[in-house]
Amino acid sequence: MIYYKTPAEIEKMRLAALVVSRTLAEIAKIIGPGVTTKELDTLAEDYILSQNAVPGFKGYMGYPATLCTSVNEQVVHGIPNDVKLKEGDVVSIDCGAVLDGFHGDHAYSFMIGEVKPEVKELLRVTKKSLYIGIEASRAGQRISDIGYAIQTYTEKHGYGVVRELTGHGLGRNLHEDPSVPNYGRRGRGKMIRNGLVIAIEPMINLGKKEVGQLDDGWTIVTKDGLASAHFEHDIAIVDKKPVILSTFDYLEDALRERGLEIL
Ligand code: MF3
Ligand code: CO
Repeated sequence: MIYYKTPAEIEKMRLAALVVSRTLAEIAKIIGPGVTTKELDTLAEDYILSQNAVPGFKGYMGYPATLCTSVNEQVVHGIPNDVKLKEGDVVSIDCGAVLDGFHGDHAYSFMIGEVKPEVKELLRVTKKSLYIGIEASRAGQRISDIGYAIQTYTEKHGYGVVRELTGHGLGRNLHEDPSVPNYGRRGRGKMIRNGLVIAIEPMINLGKKEVGQLDDGWTIVTKDGLASAHFEHDIAIVDKKPVILSTFDYLEDALRERGLEIL
């Protein structure tokens, strides 16, 4: 069952999403070679608590951390650890926070130093596919039109679209109906209408679409071992159009400030 949100609830959800956006900016200030994902996790948790919010992922189905940190062939749900990030890595940082009862949940794939050109292109295309999916999120369209748009664009580049994980409704719960696949045929599923709040999160593989799970019970990895990218925004449908509640502006400003490349 879909919980449609009132304008007042959507404003609360914007504030929750922006806690996450600012947390990602704190990460952008320090991420680089030699930093561990555990250090990033501690920073994120401290920052979220300082905003009178609480981590949204920690404890969710037993998940042990504030962030999901997925490096290279890890697609999503990587658990922060003591391994130092190194030049050439790509790391997807997914973060959740609950503020005033509502969840924010968004993600960005960061480059560590100089990464291979083909990985850069994967990041560029995956990020663009998120905005293409958002553009398709208009009242009168259906949920599957979002996935159709993302799949068509990313497969044109020869990439694999992960099937096993999807975007989702967002609200007082981290995962609400509807599920929002990143693939599909046009014109299927629920109609998109005002008050719908969803997290759109393309997970796109450089190689094949097949994924597996590590023994930790969480980390999703590509079967072929090639890199994967993940970008996520929270959006609300207002006046029949998508409004992006989260933002990459803060984190990209922080990267720019350090002279790092933005794709
Ligand atoms: N954005 C991720 C998702 O929607 C968040 C996962 S949180 C976890 O799947 F706790 F399940 F890892
Ligand atoms: Co999500």
